[in-house]
Amino acid sequence: MLTRLYAARRATREITNSDTKLRGRYKITIQTYNAIDFDKGLLDRRIFSDADIYQEELEKVFGRAWLFIGHESLIPNPNDFFLTYMGEDPVILTRDAKGEVHAFLNMCRHRGNRIVRADDGNAKNFMCSYHGWTYSNEGKLVSVPGLQEAYYGELDVDNLGLVSVAHLETWAGFVFATWAEDAPTLEEYMGDFRWYMDMMFNRLDAGIEIIGPDKWIIPANWKNPADNFIGDSYHAVISHRSATIAQANRRGGKPPAISFERPGSNEVAPGNGHGMSAFVFDTKEDFLERNIFRQQGDPELQEYVDSRFPETERRLGTTRTWHTTPGHATLFPNFSWLTNRTLRLWLPRGPLQTEVWSFTALDKDAPEEIKRKMRIQCMQSFGPSGLLEQDDMDNWRNASDAGRSMQARKYLQHISMGVGHDQHHPKLPGLSSPNMFAELPQRAFYQRWEEIMNANSWADISVAPITATFEGTSTEE
Ligand code: FES
Ligand SMILES: [Fe+2]
Repeated sequence: MLTRLYAARRATREITNSDTKLRGRYKITIQTYNAIDFDKGLLDRRIFSDADIYQEELEKVFGRAWLFIGHESLIPNPNDFFLTYMGEDPVILTRDAKGEVHAFLNMCRHRGNRIVRADDGNAKNFMCSYHGWTYSNEGKLVSVPGLQEAYYGELDVDNLGLVSVAHLETWAGFVFATWAEDAPTLEEYMGDFRWYMDMMFNRLDAGIEIIGPDKWIIPANWKNPADNFIGDSYHAVISHRSATIAQANRRGGKPPAISFERPGSNEVAPGNGHGMSAFVFDTKEDFLERNIFRQQGDPELQEYVDSRFPETERRLGTTRTWHTTPGHATLFPNFSWLTNRTLRLWLPRGPLQTEVWSFTALDKDAPEEIKRKMRIQCMQSFGPSGLLEQDDMDNWRNASDAGRSMQARKYLQHISMGVGHDQHHPKLPGLSSPNMFAELPQRAFYQRWEEIMNANSWADISVAPITATFEGTSTEE
């Protein structure tokens, strides 16, 4: 079977009809990808391994999307900085003396040296170690050795500040940035997905703080873990079976029977390539009985979590407190999280390599002992020493690797689970599937990927309208 991706690319090089755009007197052939069949749930696996596609992703996906680059709690004080990445590009996240947050490419405007080498710290100015050009944490070039003698005072200092991101916005303390001047607002980019994100990160007046990151390299394409977190409930039953048994043994109980039905569970695709799982509960009593978000396995944690529900109800309304709970999630393209408070940045490091940044989210105003318990609970399951983390990586590596196998790449990957069963749930904004064992979010993720890869600019990229009703006081902030 000839796979569809290359067939499409070859065809667009040859034809000169609707795939060809006219610019002035010149015909420019636009290369289009045809990697995902949304209706059938079939995907060309070469998007995980092809070096040219990877380079194009860096420019078109990571050069355009709103990217999570840090959290305000990582730079709490004036003049704090945190070294981060947008795709492969190193970025300095700074808070200036007045408290304003900025993000700059970590590149000296003279010869390109990386200016900041520390992971984080506190500094008003950053001096390049090569020839000493020095920049303020607002990005201005404030000192050039030999400015009068060697440059005759003629260097255009005012226009040689650090390269800034095009836009920076914060939401619930999370800092996002984009390189694209023509990008939609962060609110538009999140769309209805923000309704779900609120349930995870916007439940409390004091907000959350994040700690970390732990960092490690995995030999897999960045899309594999992003797709695993966006919608792969299926693997958890099998891949994590040994961990499920071990956890049950530790608690002195029986592991749950293997089952592919979870009453009330859904996978959701609320638009713009984002997705997650969400549980729906008909009554508050049902919620209190079955909600895994509430079952902490520790009486003190349990009591703490229960004590915060009234505050959440005021902030997010009844539906998002007592009738739905969020699960695993990915904000397109590379920011993921789980309800156990592990947050992930999947940083691309080549077609077959990803740098994983793992943070833990804690309730900012929780007592220290509760924070300690939350942190330990999270790290026991995920992170370098986590019981479940070990199960995933090798599967992702092999799934990515199949894209470069001469034979394997002739066969399309299946993300067809639940095709034909999508619905609009009355309680859940966006498209959803009536069972968390469905690959709807993955299909939506790759459909978005393809749309962005085939676009010339944001003018060609659709932005889903916001349809959700945001109950509660949090929207007024
Ligand atoms: S490269 Fe930075 S001062 Fe020369
Ligand atoms: Fe997993």
